[in-house]
Amino acid sequence: MIKGLIFDLDGVIVDTAHYHYLSWREISRDLNIDFTVKDNENLKGVSRIDSLNYILKLGSLSFNTEEKNNLLDKKNNIYKHSISTLGKKNILKGVEKILSKAKEKKMLLAVGSSSKNAKMIVEKLNLTHLFQAVVDGTMVKKTKPDPEVFLKAAKKMNLKSSECIVFEDAESGVIAAKKGGFNVVSVGNINIRNIGDVYVESLEDFNLDYYAKYF
Ligand code: BG6
Ligand code: MG
Repeated sequence: MIKGLIFDLDGVIVDTAHYHYLSWREISRDLNIDFTVKDNENLKGVSRIDSLNYILKLGSLSFNTEEKNNLLDKKNNIYKHSISTLGKKNILKGVEKILSKAKEKKMLLAVGSSSKNAKMIVEKLNLTHLFQAVVDGTMVKKTKPDPEVFLKAAKKMNLKSSECIVFEDAESGVIAAKKGGFNVVSVGNINIRNIGDVYVESLEDFNLDYYAKYF
């Protein structure tokens, strides 16, 4: 029986992927690296440091830890500036309906995100009060595709993986959730339609009444 829902944040609750892309593109330009939208696809769900390492590899560049930390800070400052006006209007379609339906059904809710900015973003969206737990990139040792972030979220809700549905838009996230034994809904990314249990183009198309019994 499904008792809890765990949401990835970026690309599931809110469309921040584009801002991550623009921020990494600015960093890449300074380094004379050609960073494309397709590259950005590979960085969905990937931690900040792993994303930087991916980009440096694209440009066959190697930097020491201090130089990398400077680039990470610079990227995050650009990113935070670009999302400064983020608010309720940016919540993706279908999300709020599922959250209120879940509350009606007395289900527990959590966020499981690789982002170290997750708590700040959930706050900006004015959704914090709805979640029992927001587990983010500052709280895990291993990032997606390791299941740690989702297992921690389930633990905070006192639920087993099999009692939860995870919503994910990234390949690394779907793999993580499957590894952790969760029921997985792949969202809005045709490339991951076959690796989750269910695929929806948008959360608008997800019927919680139906899937609460389906799993
Ligand atoms: C994930 C995003 O949710 O968080 C990635 O999909 C991002 O694109 C990662 O790199 C880390 O985010 P942040 O906010 O800690 O830099
Ligand atoms: Mg995501």
